[in-house]
Amino acid sequence: MPLNIAILASGSGSNAQAIIDKAAAGVLDVNVCCIICNRPGAGVIERAARAGIACVVLDHKAYPDRESYDRAVVQHLQKYDARLVVLAGYMRLLSPVFLDAFSGRVINIHPALLPSFPGVHGGADALEYGVRISGCTVHFVEEKMDGGPVIIQAAVPVNPGEDVDDLMQRIHAMEHRIYPQAIQWLAQNRISVWGREVHVAPGSAVATVPDGQWLVYPPLEEGF
Ligand code: GRF
Repeated sequence: MPLNIAILASGSGSNAQAIIDKAAAGVLDVNVCCIICNRPGAGVIERAARAGIACVVLDHKAYPDRESYDRAVVQHLQKYDARLVVLAGYMRLLSPVFLDAFSGRVINIHPALLPSFPGVHGGADALEYGVRISGCTVHFVEEKMDGGPVIIQAAVPVNPGEDVDDLMQRIHAMEHRIYPQAIQWLAQNRISVWGREVHVAPGSAVATVPDGQWLVYPPLEEGF
């Protein structure tokens, strides 16, 4: 049985698309049961329609506080029987109302190597700081923003003179590989968390040979 996952997004949805594509290709063993978007007009809504995936648009501005909004989101997630919640450019902090309902079952992707450069401008902040290596991180979500246990990270070099758009394009390309990979490990029940340490049990797939300037750990497997 494929794992039922819900994707929450606020923007263009390129990560949502990467997940949808890997699932459609039969590489990722999940069923995207719904996409929830808090911003009417966001690109991800069109992507959901094209893929024939149920999309719920819930404008957070219509709710008096974070808790009542999260309660509405949780109701939809339960209605669609989501077992894993995948935040993909979802620009909202989650309240305990949400995290208690899906404890240990919410993951996020961040465009920097956590714990460096948390926050909404992590990618740009790293470049501005002058780091020589940046990247992206998939992690479990806890109440502290960008603070939960790390599942997988990709490192990419920062090229001399590169602007933020160029760097982010290369980071996004790696996001689109490590996010589906992390979800696949969860779908295969191969992830265990010991305190802050995340362990990935060995599987049968062979490791991907690096096809560019990047380092991913734990290694990407065939298909990702
Ligand atoms: C990504 O850079 C992700 O790391 C961050 O938000 C961005 C979402 O991009 N959390 P997209 O909407 O998936 O294209």
